[in-house]
Amino acid sequence: MKIGILTGGGDCPGLNAVIRAIVRKGIFHYNDQFIGFMEGWRGVLENMSRPLDLEAVRGILPQGGTILRTSRTNPAKKENGLERCIENLKANGVEALIALGGDDTQSVSLKLFERGVKVVAVPKTIDNDLSGTDLCFGFDTAVSIATEAIDRVHTTAEAHNRVIVVEVMGRDSGWIALYSGVAGGADVILIPEQPFDIQEIAETIKKRHDRGLYFSIVVVAEGAKMASRSPESERRKVDEFGHVRLGGVGNTLAAEIESRTGFETRAVVLGHIQRGGSPTAFDRMLATRYGLGAIDLVHEGRFGRMVALKGSEITSVPIADAISQTRYLSQDFIDIAMSLREKNREDVHSS
Ligand code: F6P
Repeated sequence: MKIGILTGGGDCPGLNAVIRAIVRKGIFHYNDQFIGFMEGWRGVLENMSRPLDLEAVRGILPQGGTILRTSRTNPAKKENGLERCIENLKANGVEALIALGGDDTQSVSLKLFERGVKVVAVPKTIDNDLSGTDLCFGFDTAVSIATEAIDRVHTTAEAHNRVIVVEVMGRDSGWIALYSGVAGGADVILIPEQPFDIQEIAETIKKRHDRGLYFSIVVVAEGAKMASRSPESERRKVDEFGHVRLGGVGNTLAAEIESRTGFETRAVVLGHIQRGGSPTAFDRMLATRYGLGAIDLVHEGRFGRMVALKGSEITSVPIADAISQTRYLSQDFIDIAMSLREKNREDVHSS
């Protein structure tokens, strides 16, 4: 069978491990041939491709990024974009397509599937907020990097009597902030799921310092919003799927904390450091399992589905279910962060 592969949206450690697993099992067990479309849907739209054989995937398991490169191109926003994709797939003799991506990439997969293309999806986002699966590869790597950064920031904050705000990725959900914040022992963790009151955060930090401590660590997800202010993201550039480019809440927060507490406060924005570089062993394993699951789905003829992790099992769900909603942090997880946070005196009395 001739199968196309593409990687769309933001890159994610483990993409190459998925590609490698698909190609190796496809060639060794099913006698498949592969073609890689470059730069996500742009490659299908503009017919940019490369052959993918055993030699092409040799040595890529530990590599970050994606050998197929990526983009946030949305064919549904281009004139006759979906039709052009279908024509190019036909012209290349592609019988099935495996798309690695998050909700935006998979919204295009679904549109093509509804137009008769045989598509299988693989979930990808370091944000870990895709529905239908318990865990996305790349998340463990991002959390490990963020935790290490928080550990490092801790020692310098303590040495200088500073508050340091660490901004991590997480557009709609606070999975990275919560996991790395808890693992790194942050004093305050702020997530998009719960708009925060800046005065309350300032008082929490003051209360901690009243106890004789002289430094604090705040971890904030880039999508976290102050309850009393309009989102920082206003007036920012948007991509073809309508998402604003985030980043900046950490600096705003640091300035507010400093002016309200009088404590010297600095911000560190981790940004793409969380997305680059080699995947953890855990993510290499998970990515490999997703790749093997995807090629099996193709040969079972189960199209329009996304491979998924449920508990410890690799299974699959309809693509439509996976992209229907964001997977937010559940209250159980939010409670972990709140249970560890310093309470203001009034809160202690009232509870
Ligand atoms: O969706 C994953 C993500 O890493 C978000 O956390 C972040 O907002 C976005 O990608 C950044 O995308 P880009 O690299 O295109 O700016």
